[in-house]
Amino acid sequence: MRIDIISVVPDLLDSPFSHSIMKRAKDRGLLEVFVHNLRDYTPYKQAQVDDYQFGGGAGMVMMPEPLAILLDKLKEERPYDEVIYMTPDGDLFDQRTANTLSLKTNMIIICGHYKGIDDRIRQHYVTREISIGDYVLSGGELAAAVVVDAVGRLLPGVLNDETSALFDSFQDGLLAPPVYTRPAEFRGWKVPDVLLCGDPKKIDEWRYEQSLQRTKERRPGLLND
Ligand code: ADE
Repeated sequence: MRIDIISVVPDLLDSPFSHSIMKRAKDRGLLEVFVHNLRDYTPYKQAQVDDYQFGGGAGMVMMPEPLAILLDKLKEERPYDEVIYMTPDGDLFDQRTANTLSLKTNMIIICGHYKGIDDRIRQHYVTREISIGDYVLSGGELAAAVVVDAVGRLLPGVLNDETSALFDSFQDGLLAPPVYTRPAEFRGWKVPDVLLCGDPKKIDEWRYEQSLQRTKERRPGLLND
């Protein structure tokens, strides 16, 4: 999978894909992430990429031309399955969307700043608008990093134990069960006996029960979905 991210603060994305599982995905050639500085594509002086909004009002808007120039260039080079715009008024990101996106080959992610991007780019280029939650970030970069991480770890071969993503919270519509590691007793706090019993069937049943209980308590809405 190839992901091209368009940003006015590309340095913000230096670190998120350089460690841990995302690094492994890149090292294994399963994920390529290219971060483009929008200022390199503006035809305006002083690397201008934003301007006052028509109709008045506080806050700048990202101009359409630098975005269109870069989007056209990328789209000439290869076909893209999705042009995603990160925005608080987009569709709420969830595991289902992560699964859907993990099946794509090439994607562009546009990170907004200021008041957002000129709406004509949304109308004519963007295929999907994503919000990572009902709060406003100062830019789309951290949100884009969340999406790339959630999608990247689902690519076949990225996780060492192929099955482990299957048991993530949300993957089967349930929250994950509690987990424990050594020591079996810590400060007098014991690991549930069933996890030490060695019977995989019993352990699976216990985990399922725990998942169900947690979901009922914490996110009952997931059960109705
Ligand atoms: N940009 C600013 N806030 C955002 C959010 N909540 N989700 C996605 N992009 C954003």
